[in-house]
Amino acid sequence: METSRRDALGLIIGGLGAVGVVGALYPFVKSLAPSAASLAGARVEVDVSQIPDLQVRVVSWKGKPVFVVKLPQNFQWNGKTKEDNNRKLLQGQDAYAMVAVCTHLGCVPLWKPNGEGEFNYPVFHCPCHGGFYSPWGDNIAGPPPRPLHLPPQKREGNKLVIGEPGFIKDLT
Ligand code: FES
Repeated sequence: METSRRDALGLIIGGLGAVGVVGALYPFVKSLAPSAASLAGARVEVDVSQIPDLQVRVVSWKGKPVFVVKLPQNFQWNGKTKEDNNRKLLQGQDAYAMVAVCTHLGCVPLWKPNGEGEFNYPVFHCPCHGGFYSPWGDNIAGPPPRPLHLPPQKREGNKLVIGEPGFIKDLT
């Protein structure tokens, strides 16, 4: 009897101790989860019917600048790219979002709808070290080693929803 009472007491004390530890750890563990502020902007909606053809808007998504590109129907482009990854992923989309950070050393490229330098068709030009990208963000020339990243995104009517999986499922 004496033994079982001691065991029961031990269990209670142990249980209280566990509750105390969890209680003490909870604020710490909670502080590791993304704060509400850092999640703000994780889903961004853009009405692409408000963007004229061949123009680009810059929006903020998770603290990063993001291009929203609007192309005309049946857009033809005469350039050549080193890789064709993004174009394949974005095929058939007249509006899409790309992270506006050069994959070389992180500058924000400039949209040149009338071309720039040797390229007489629409391109993105990174002014820092002369990188060039196609309208789909595939690297054409200069130091950028890979295409611009694409955020997850989907289309809902006139709205492009950035931050939710759709025709791009994950951040590329
Ligand atoms: S940062 Fe864009 S070319 Fe270097």
